Amino acid sequence: MNPEIRPFDVTVVGESLVDVYADVSDDFLAKYSLEKTARETVTEDVLKQIKAEVKSTVIKSGGSIANTAFNLSKIGTKVQFLTKIGRDNAGKIFAQEMLDQGVRCPSLCSKYKTFELMVLNTPDKERTMVGNGSPQPLNFSDDELESLKLSRFVLIEGFMLLANFNTVLKIIKKAKAFDCKIILTLSAPFVVEQEADKFNAVIQLGVDLVIGNRDEARALKTGIGVKELPEIHEKTCWVITHGADNVFYETAKWHFKMQFDQIPKPVDKNGAGDAFAAGFLFHYFLKNGSKNSVLNGMELGHELAGQVIMTKGPRLV
Ligand SMILES: Nc1ncnc2c1ncn2[C@@H]1O[C@H](COP(=O)(O)OP(=O)(O)OP(=O)(O)O)[C@@H](O)[C@H]1O
Ligand SMILES: [Mg+2]
Repeated sequence: MNPEIRPFDVTVVGESLVDVYADVSDDFLAKYSLEKTARETVTEDVLKQIKAEVKSTVIKSGGSIANTAFNLSKIGTKVQFLTKIGRDNAGKIFAQEMLDQGVRCPSLCSKYKTFELMVLNTPDKERTMVGNGSPQPLNFSDDELESLKLSRFVLIEGFMLLANFNTVLKIIKKAKAFDCKIILTLSAPFVVEQEADKFNAVIQLGVDLVIGNRDEARALKTGIGVKELPEIHEKTCWVITHGADNVFYETAKWHFKMQFDQIPKPVDKNGAGDAFAAGFLFHYFLKNGSKNSVLNGMELGHELAGQVIMTKGPRLV
């Protein structure tokens, strides 16, 4: 299909999961030996016990790639999600929230259990995350991968490299055959530290754009052993955010830095990077990554990130 007439701008690829929010006391964290602000892993039994003991919960679709998909769709980008969503309560909530926002999702799958991450809020507004293990590995049939040809771009979250490396290789091969441009996020410093070689291998296959923050970029350079990001692959472009300070766009031939005005008192910094990515990509998709789209994208990315950090919750409202 001619890339200019495809029904979706982007296929986002990543895990579907829900966040289960609950308010707890500091004593509650102490009772279960949970370290505040950490991402703790507990057994299924302990998770059940925690769920039974908290007074009430709010369940919402979550995860970095879902936040970006939601925000992109909200500002008018046409998005489809390549993932597996369980035919369980959490999966139904995930799919419904995405569909309500206009993101096309695959049908629910009875062989897949949707991952639930508990987000425990303490009175000091800190969050402690608790889960049992990690999301089930994702495998897609050739038929499922055919959906990639319906979009011009494919956006793959870096978290996929933790447990789904072979699936990512398969997706990239198929996406290239369909002439899709490929974008990769770095997701989190610990993912890059753990999987730097896999990131390198994927980028060598020909990734057009990588999105990350300063710590992730640093971890990647250290892990691969290069001084500058463009040394990794001459054709890959990089957009690297530096929190409240600035954002960098780098290619082998040119680079650009945009300085920001700091927001002194953000209400909730969660989701800043995902909102920035959505704003940036909106223009990037519209004008196929031209220089102009990079500048407009940085401005919109910063504006949307500003909106998200000035409201509670990780997404645009
Ligand atoms: N204090 C702030 N004031 C103004 N803008 C901010 C502030 N913090 C973040 N931003 C905006 O959010 C964007 C992304 O921030 P950051 O580099 O912290 O991403 P991140 O670390 O990936 O975030 P996340 O915690 O969502 O993963 C920045 O490029 C900037 O536009
Ligand atoms: Mg981030």
